[in-house]
Amino acid sequence: MHNNPGKDQGLDRDFRNIWHPCTQMKDHESVPPLHIERGEGIYLVDKDGKRYMDVISSWWVNLFGHNHPRLNKALIDQASRMAHVLFAGVTHTPAIDLAESLVKLTPPNLTRVFFSDNGSTSVEVALKMSLQYWRQTGQAQRTRFIHLTDSYHGETLGALSVCGINLFREKFENVLMENIEVAGPDCYRCPLGFKRESCEAECFEPMEKALEENRETIAGVIVEPLVQGAAGMKMYPPVYLEKLEKACDNFKTHTIYDEVAVAFGRTGSLFVCGEYELKPTFLCLSKGITSGYLPLAATLASEEIYQAFYDEPASMKLFIHSHSYSANPLACACANETLTLLTENKFLSGLKPKIELIKEMGNKTRELKWCGEFRQIGMIAAIELVRNKQSKETFPQEERVGYKIYLEGLKRGILMRPLGNVIYFIPPLVITDNEIETMINTACESIQAVLGE
Ligand SMILES: Cc1ncc(COP(=O)(O)O)c(C=O)c1O
Repeated sequence: MHNNPGKDQGLDRDFRNIWHPCTQMKDHESVPPLHIERGEGIYLVDKDGKRYMDVISSWWVNLFGHNHPRLNKALIDQASRMAHVLFAGVTHTPAIDLAESLVKLTPPNLTRVFFSDNGSTSVEVALKMSLQYWRQTGQAQRTRFIHLTDSYHGETLGALSVCGINLFREKFENVLMENIEVAGPDCYRCPLGFKRESCEAECFEPMEKALEENRETIAGVIVEPLVQGAAGMKMYPPVYLEKLEKACDNFKTHTIYDEVAVAFGRTGSLFVCGEYELKPTFLCLSKGITSGYLPLAATLASEEIYQAFYDEPASMKLFIHSHSYSANPLACACANETLTLLTENKFLSGLKPKIELIKEMGNKTRELKWCGEFRQIGMIAAIELVRNKQSKETFPQEERVGYKIYLEGLKRGILMRPLGNVIYFIPPLVITDNEIETMINTACESIQAVLGE
């Protein structure tokens, strides 16, 4: 039974019927989930009125804070017209506007937008489009994807087949598509001894080799550009992506950029591919696209891909992939407002001082006895905790250091969700300077409360 001494009936009812994602439900016997009643800006407020700073943007989706007047209005205005309509044989203005904006704002080779409703699915769509493209262009033997070690692209079976994190894939290993894992950048523990700031992605060699050796059978390479989120916000320099683009051009294979976590301002720019003038074959978007209002995803594809599907109906070259809520109009309306907020009044350049402040705070964080590395790209930052700074030895999983720090954070009014031994920050972009200081200071206090000074 739940340890909720007669207070919140809702929690007992939750425990009776709900199975939460990515949660050992037994943990909730002793620590019930937060019962959040409302959101205000970057704060979540529970049933007792206690406020928590949402430093992880509610699973990396929220950009402009909770309960935002303009996003609320966009949603309500659209709801008063039409909440949902199927998207095959039917179109609507919110989707037309959104597709047009996405094409305008992303690299010029991406001309077509396929809507779905979550990040994993945006990846599934890219994988399927790539496979079908090769089949329809006479290279049906190209059936395998290359992914990096520690990659994460979602948890449906297709997405898991390009996942490099055992925690997510091992229980399903025997049914996953056979893809190829290549050792990717590991900058904090660079086996070649280089530094992220000055290297030339010497670690690209295994990728080059895998492409060369499997040139006949590779459909494409999938990456999380610059930040491998679920791996613990592992960060690597853009030169790796530049090399990848050249190599994939050379071997005439597809590049799939999974920007589900990093797009829409997180790295300080709208899209990583746009910032570095890279031209992926596919671009997967979700999470921030509606600023955390409603589920929506988009897979952008190049014109060459689209044209391989465009033919007489009898050819049966169409792309058969549909979800009931594809391009949901409420979600598209929120996405359109999100893009307006991101692109008006020099919003993104306004992030620069905040990014600088996070950097400054990082310098203090490095003084912590347990901080192996403080890393940052734009508005994403992470502290990797180690037992020993010299040897970079990690804390064993059984010690649940991250979980204990999460609990200490809750006591102090911040909601973190550490990834193993990595305490990370991916706050709503509207976080203020004072709040940035509180966020990092409180995280450091929580770390010290668990590990000592
Ligand atoms: C890079 C990346 N791709 C895909 C996904 C999956 O998105 P969703 O949880 O919406 O299915 C995530 C989620 O964290 C992600 O970080």
